[in-house]
Order: sequence, then structure tokens, then C-alpha cells
Amino acid sequence: MIIFKKAADIGIFLQQKRQNNPKTGFVPTMGALHQGHISLIESARSKNDLVVCSIFVNPTQFNDPKDFQNYPITIENDIDLLEKAGCDALFLPAVEEMYPAGLENKKTYALGYLETVLEGRYRPGHFQGVCQVVHRLLTIVPADRLYLGQKDFQQCMVIRKMIELENLPVETVICPTLRETDGLAMSSRNMRLDKEAREKAVEISRTLLHIKSSLKAGDLSELKTAAVEQLNRTGFKTDYVEIADADTLELIGRWDGKQKLVALCAAFLGEVRLIDNMLLQA
Ligand code: PAF
Repeated sequence: MIIFKKAADIGIFLQQKRQNNPKTGFVPTMGALHQGHISLIESARSKNDLVVCSIFVNPTQFNDPKDFQNYPITIENDIDLLEKAGCDALFLPAVEEMYPAGLENKKTYALGYLETVLEGRYRPGHFQGVCQVVHRLLTIVPADRLYLGQKDFQQCMVIRKMIELENLPVETVICPTLRETDGLAMSSRNMRLDKEAREKAVEISRTLLHIKSSLKAGDLSELKTAAVEQLNRTGFKTDYVEIADADTLELIGRWDGKQKLVALCAAFLGEVRLIDNMLLQA
């Protein structure tokens, strides 16, 4: 695997490769890689000639400075995992490389409804930061396919919207969430959980599973309230448990028994904020 730190250098590399017209799969990450990320690399590997990964802890998508400071960094291990998974190139830029005009002069994206609900509501500015960085990355690595994890359900929708707004010629491939054996969704933030918090963390996926198995047409408010109460009893400070239309993210209070639904949750265990989601009819 070749490691590039400069946009110009990976640009030259990709230009040279382009002579053979390869299909390029791109996996953007913030590092602290786990099996979930590696499954994205493996999906990209199985469908493309060239697989590129990026590791960049993007300052503009953190609305909480403490979360940014505490974001885990495990670069040696990341490189090792990527090499084993057959990644061809890693882009590892510094902030100046990603934001050459500085952090103040940033583009804004007309994301509409998508940035007013759920993560958008609780993390103001977060999705603008995600779009800024993914747009810039796709300019540097003009991939045929972009690989994203379903774990960040709303982020996948936001990035698709940005791609549509910017008319970028890239296909998004959404890969299923990978879970630990007890059901906890894999996440870089899990590394920050101590033993006691790690044991409690599984309650998020249990709660989503409970919603899935209890779902009935009609009013959903009791189901959602009971889920928040259950998480708070376990020791979480819950931002939200919501049930939404899986295609539009419209929040659903009454279910007609047909609409395709997703349950989504965000909750703090101490200082660590965990998110998860589950398609309810899958
Ligand atoms: O999901 C992530 O790790 C990040 O939000 C992404 C897509 C790499 C952008 O920084």
C-alpha cells in the first residue's frame, strides 16, 4: 500500500493509473479502524481494480471540541489493517491539505430537512462539515464508487444529497453495520468505553431490536418513550430514539403498517456519544 500525504501526489498516482481505465473504490474514514471499516475495504476490493482509503479526523464536523480532542488515533494499527485487507493507497492528509483556503472559508450545502432532524438537530453544523470534507476528498480521489457504512444512516443520506447537489459522477455503496457478538454496533468511539460502560452499551442494540419485534401499525409514541426510559434506566443520557421513514427520514408518529421504517438512536454513556439504527422490516 502506498501512503500519500499530499493531494498533488495522490493526484499524480491516480492520473498514471487512469491510463488503464481502472474502476476505483474509495473508503473515507477518520481512522481508529475496526472490522466495520475493513468490511468496507473488502467490499471495495471485491468490485474495483483500485482501492483507496483516506484517514482524516475532520475538525469541521465536530460540534463538540472535547469530542474532537478525544477522538481515538491508532494510525500504526490502521495501516497494518489496511495492508492486510488489500488496500492499494492510503491518503493521510494534514488539515492544510484538506482546507487550503483555511477553516473559515467553507462552502455550505443546501441539505434542507436532512440537517434539521436527529443528528442535524443535536449536532449543529456537523453535516456541513461532513459534506465539506467528503466533497474535497472526492475532488482529490475522483472515485467510481464511494463506500459508506449504514451505521451512519443519516450521514449516508446527507452524502448522497451532497453528491446529487454537486452532480458528482460517483455511485454510493452502503454496507451493512457490523456488530460485536453481543450486538453492539462497531464504532471507533467504542474504544473510549471503560469495562462497565462497554457492558451497558449493548442496551442500544437491544432497544432497537425490541422496537423491531414490538412494531405494530398505529401510534408509535409509547414504543419510543419506553425505549428512551429503558436506555436512561441503564445509565444512558439519551438524545433521541426515533422511528422514521427509511427513504426520507421523515419522523413517523403513526405507522400505516406499510411504510418502510428505520429506528435510530443516539445516547451518551458518560462522555461517549453512541449512535445506532436498525431497519425495521428487514
Ligand atoms: O464516517 C466518518 O468516518 C466520517 O464522517 C467521514 C465520512 C470519513 C467524513 O469525515
